[in-house]
Amino acid sequence: MIPSIFTPFTLPNGQVLKNRLVKAAMEENLATSEHLPGTELKRLYKAWADGGVGLIITGNVMIDHLAMTGPGGVVLEQDTDLTPFSEWAKLSKTNATKIWMQVNHPGRQVFKKMGGKVLSPSDVALNMGKHSSLFSPPKPMDESEIQDVIQRFTTTAVRAEQAGFDGVEIHAAHGYLLSQFLSPLTNKRNDQWGGSLENRARLLIEVVKSVNEACGEGVAIAVKLNSADFQRGGFDIEDAEQVVKMLGELNIDLVELSGGCYEAPAMQGRSADDRTLAREAYFLEFASKIAKYVSVPIMTTGGICRYEVAKKVVDSGVELVGMASSLAFTPDLVNQWQNNTTVLGHIPVVNWKDKTLSGLATMAMVKQQLRRIGAGKLPKLSASPLWALITDQVRGVKLTKRYKKQHENEIL
Ligand SMILES: Cc1cc2nc3c(=O)[nH]c(=O)nc-3n(C[C@H](O)[C@H](O)[C@H](O)COP(=O)(O)O)c2cc1C
Repeated sequence: MIPSIFTPFTLPNGQVLKNRLVKAAMEENLATSEHLPGTELKRLYKAWADGGVGLIITGNVMIDHLAMTGPGGVVLEQDTDLTPFSEWAKLSKTNATKIWMQVNHPGRQVFKKMGGKVLSPSDVALNMGKHSSLFSPPKPMDESEIQDVIQRFTTTAVRAEQAGFDGVEIHAAHGYLLSQFLSPLTNKRNDQWGGSLENRARLLIEVVKSVNEACGEGVAIAVKLNSADFQRGGFDIEDAEQVVKMLGELNIDLVELSGGCYEAPAMQGRSADDRTLAREAYFLEFASKIAKYVSVPIMTTGGICRYEVAKKVVDSGVELVGMASSLAFTPDLVNQWQNNTTVLGHIPVVNWKDKTLSGLATMAMVKQQLRRIGAGKLPKLSASPLWALITDQVRGVKLTKRYKKQHENEIL
């Protein structure tokens, strides 16, 4: 019998999710100046827990305070005070919700104005057309930097467990460091970390193994992976199939399939090669194909905001349904669907001529809602893209200044 989206799901490690609907990771940029979760983040996560999802995956938490995806990000390192993290986990568990921490390293996707470490497998700079100068060229990583990254992922995962998180999700999608190692466009190495797919996947596999060994059995381990980069010559669906198989052998609990990177934001429904993505549930075709022959549970995220589409995901054999933007606009969408399946979620679309600015404005509109909920206000469906972008940029400048001042002795 095909399960409903409201049927509980038991993960390989025995953890039970009360339903199939998951709040996917969204970086909030709402951390305190010490990079800790504060009042706003806790209020936001309580709203999601009250809103009915079975699982919440946090926005990406950085494993190194000198390698940040953006200002105002949360960081969890060896010496970080765990108290605010324990409070964050506890509130997120309200209403029998599970909470997993997403852990991430940006690699080369670091804004130049932030500074800090800009590392990558090879010295391939981001190509964002006329916006390329927003990013610095990366430094190819040496062996000790690679080992340091494995250790940092492990430390953050162990500390998340100590703080009471039910699981960790290792971010290997969207063009961040682990995804850079996977892609032949960004990984030009000819040592054991580059070349064949097995070599390109080695860093991800080593991180997963290390986290698996260090964390207790009760902690769920997930990986977010691109079903493809949607760039010519990049990591492709056949590669993704092989990597999911490799991950399946490590007894992990979930693979979340997404797609794209800063250069080709497929996670916003746009590809940079000639493939057309579905208008809704962008990666379902790939996810359902992969789900057919692997035993590791699969989740797909991207373009899901209608009950019928969420149902179609589960009907097609994909175990979990990831939603991000729609839960920023309607944090209790799942509760609403329990009573009325015709309620529509909302995913903003901005179609300006400049695709990079359109992408940034879309993100800004979503982030605006996260800030509103964090401040105890209701989300605003009528958000203006231009206004959201301006506010987000102004806020970003302030937070970047704060970050640079705080770490002026460490950032070169
Ligand atoms: C504001 C914002 C922040 C995001 N931050 C993250 C993140 O930290 N980690 C991640 O894996 N994906 C992140 N994403 C991507 C989402 O998890 C998701 O893959 C993407 O938005 C597509 O899903 P949706 O159509 O339901 O929004 C972010 C998306 C948005 C809109």
